[in-house]
Amino acid sequence: MKVGILGSGVVGRTLAGGLSRIGNHVMIGTRDIQKEELQAWREQDKEKHKLGSFKEASIFGELIVLCTQWTGTKNVIEQAGIWNFKNKVIVDVTNPLDGKGPDENGRVHFAALNSASAGEQVQAWLPDSHVVKALNCVGNIHMVAPKLEEGAPTMFIAGNDDLAKKAVTEILSKLGWQDVADMGGIEISRDIEALCVLWYAYGFRTGSWTHAFKLLKK
Ligand SMILES: NC(=O)c1ccc[n+]([C@@H]2O[C@H](COP(=O)([O-])OP(=O)(O)OC[C@H]3O[C@@H](n4cnc5c(N)ncnc54)[C@H](OP(=O)(O)O)[C@@H]3O)[C@@H](O)[C@H]2O)c1
Repeated sequence: MKVGILGSGVVGRTLAGGLSRIGNHVMIGTRDIQKEELQAWREQDKEKHKLGSFKEASIFGELIVLCTQWTGTKNVIEQAGIWNFKNKVIVDVTNPLDGKGPDENGRVHFAALNSASAGEQVQAWLPDSHVVKALNCVGNIHMVAPKLEEGAPTMFIAGNDDLAKKAVTEILSKLGWQDVADMGGIEISRDIEALCVLWYAYGFRTGSWTHAFKLLKK
């Protein structure tokens, strides 16, 4: 499959690597294809690794993965052109953080969102696409092939389209996620995004950043 990754931060680069390793052709969309780390990534596999603008990556991708800093997300979608997302599955990895870092209690905060979650907001910006919230409740080091001594973590996903969630679940499974929990419609994104606040709080409290969530069922 052809995958367009929007955003070349650590998350975009991690998922580009993982998605390429499971057989996909991947184009990273970025404002600056000249970045050293991106050029090095392209050199690793010139056939399967491509770089382009946000627009080129969204045209390229049959599946699009949104890996943008929240405050730049609307701008990235506008640069890409919303028609280039039409009828596609969009994996929304964003957390709508305000970017100010933790407060004195180790709590990170969300940007003002008019009470919607990032997932709902992205779905509203892209009404003709199938947005699936996924991969946002874990640190980038465990996004691909998560291996923790205490067991397999759970990936929580949400979205309005069952077929899109099925497709994303299959991709997650190939990326090494043994346990994917479909939590419901895109409005549940707000609860999955809240897990990121908890994830950061544990990290700031313990100084450890290798944790992940697990849903125990029996
Ligand atoms: N870091 C993690 O472990 C982690 C875990 C779970 C979820 N997340 C979420 O995943 C997303 C990506 O995380 P990250 O750490 O990779 O983020 P990041 O490095 O802060 O930003 C990712 C990319 O967003 C684009 N961007 C930022 N501001 C922009 C603007 N004003 N206009 C256009 N593009 C802009 C940039 O793309 P280019 O530089 O390529 O132009 C940037 O590389 C975030 O929403 C984050 O909350 C992160």
